[in-house]
Amino acid sequence: MINVGYVGCGFMAQKVHLPNLTAIPDCRVLALAELRQDLGRKVQARFGIERLYADHTSMLADPDLDAIAVSAAFGVQGQIARDALLAGKDVFMEKPMAISLEQADAILEAERASGRRLMVGYMKRYDAGNELVKATLDAWRSSGEQGPLTLARNHGFCGNWTAGLDTPMDTSEEPMPVAPVVGPAWLPAEYLSAYIGYLQQYTHNINLLRWLLDAGDEVTIKAVDLNADGYTGVVVFDMAGVRAVLETGRLSHYRWDEHTQVYFQDGWLHTWAPPLLLRQVPAEVEIYRAGGQQTTTRAIPQDAWSWAYRREMDHFVSSVASGEPFRSPAQDTRTDVRLFEEIYRAWLEQRGIL
Ligand SMILES: NC(=O)c1ccc[n+]([C@@H]2O[C@H](COP(=O)([O-])OP(=O)(O)OC[C@H]3O[C@@H](n4cnc5c(N)ncnc54)[C@H](O)[C@@H]3O)[C@@H](O)[C@H]2O)c1
Repeated sequence: MINVGYVGCGFMAQKVHLPNLTAIPDCRVLALAELRQDLGRKVQARFGIERLYADHTSMLADPDLDAIAVSAAFGVQGQIARDALLAGKDVFMEKPMAISLEQADAILEAERASGRRLMVGYMKRYDAGNELVKATLDAWRSSGEQGPLTLARNHGFCGNWTAGLDTPMDTSEEPMPVAPVVGPAWLPAEYLSAYIGYLQQYTHNINLLRWLLDAGDEVTIKAVDLNADGYTGVVVFDMAGVRAVLETGRLSHYRWDEHTQVYFQDGWLHTWAPPLLLRQVPAEVEIYRAGGQQTTTRAIPQDAWSWAYRREMDHFVSSVASGEPFRSPAQDTRTDVRLFEEIYRAWLEQRGIL
């Protein structure tokens, strides 16, 4: 049994992570920490959680906790994760781990010094449909059966991500805690909110492409073409020798307009993301074999009715218990942080701002 302490009782906690964590048989949410205590009490009562702390520092002194999970304001959650590591706990935190390389490196240093481990919430890596695509991609690459890999692209124009999810949500009249947002030192202050908007959305997409292609940190940026909004456009990467394209923009779509396609000389693999909060629905997968006899398969993953966020939490709890490596570890997401700094630097240099 893994005893988890949870920090932050907002939207992601109530809609996603607390329902998932409290449903996992080998896991018990023993404590909550929330600065808004009235909200904390309501969430504590609804989920039947034994202990409530006024802040994460007091919670971290609780010796009964094996692991900590965090979904607080993105500007402060990295510091909370760092404190939890240094208090000797394994940690799950929501993305992004950091919004500057300097913050990322401080967190990674705490991970090294403590000997504990941090997992970052990139749920797309745990989607059963994406897992099927990754397994097929790996098989095609190692056998060479569909020819060389020629291009990867992720298209993400967003839309409605909540999909009508009606899980109850407690609120409170208490003011939201002040959560300072400190960007990279070189970034002019007037571009911080555009940078955050772009990073918050597309950190998922870059992280997914890197995972599918096994690119690790072997990623460079070949071209950046963004509009004046710093959001809409195209970025071209070299991901471990593969050209990868990210298409970004906004669409008033009733679903979630995101798909990823990996081309080979003789076929493609295609995965369509579900609206993120649509429970129990994995990505839709198409496997197209070109060449001789042409076939298209709508492959169904084994875990046909499953939710990426639930599988992500199952993975966290079982990896904490077994010591198995995380599939989305902190060290790996440092690359995402680096790439966002590089994309925005390139864009601001093109515009003569840097
Ligand atoms: N993986 C995803 O798809 C996804 C989707 C949405 C949001 N997120 C991430 O989840 C995080 C949380 O988002 P949210 O929508 O739940 O935010 P939210 O504002 O609804 O909730 C944050 C909660 O944390 C509390 N809090 C703030 N600072 C705290 C502190 N120091 N100690 C304890 N509690 C504190 C706030 O009072 C609030 O209740 C963000 O970092 C965001 O990037 C991830």
